[in-house]
Amino acid sequence: MVPELRDTALLNREFLGRAVELLAGNGIRQFIDIGSGLPTQGSVHEIAQDANPKARVVYVDNDPVVCAHGRALLESSEGHATADRSAGREEEAKTGMEVYRSSNASAIPRSRDQVVKLFDGFDVVEPGIVWIAEWGATTPVDDPEKYFVYAGVGRKP
Ligand SMILES: C[S@@+](CC[C@H](N)C(=O)[O-])C[C@H]1O[C@@H](n2cnc3c(N)ncnc32)[C@H](O)[C@@H]1O
Repeated sequence: MVPELRDTALLNREFLGRAVELLAGNGIRQFIDIGSGLPTQGSVHEIAQDANPKARVVYVDNDPVVCAHGRALLESSEGHATADRSAGREEEAKTGMEVYRSSNASAIPRSRDQVVKLFDGFDVVEPGIVWIAEWGATTPVDDPEKYFVYAGVGRKP
């Protein structure tokens, strides 16, 4: 068991929100959310569209259950699509997965040095690549390393 997992998931959502706010505030209008999981409060399209109602989001996930629920839950709102990587919507998901592959990201434990390497060729936005609880957290956390996830935002020059 990992007792910090719940808080880590919440910190991850907080980071996602802040990162999308930052991007949308800098004029980014098109988003691909790879490994989006189930839609929940503060979805990427909600945050992005707060900054810019014209923002568009494609959600990509390789779990067919997530995709089915995602479609059902998001049906009533506009400005996004759900791309099922697992079941026959390959064209729709292809773009997202190309970005995914080029980022070399996956659910594999990595050291900070390895995470930093993922950002090669990108300009890293302040505060850099830090523990997720340190990336502009609204509430300071005593032991940020306890939540064992690194966060960073990179901008392609
Ligand atoms: C931790 S969950 C969702 C996290 C969500 N992005 C958030 O910030 O709350 C990770 C999701 O990534 C999806 N996933 C894992 N590997 C993937 C892959 N290779 N392609 C697409 N989705 C993937 C899983 O199915 C899962 O729904």
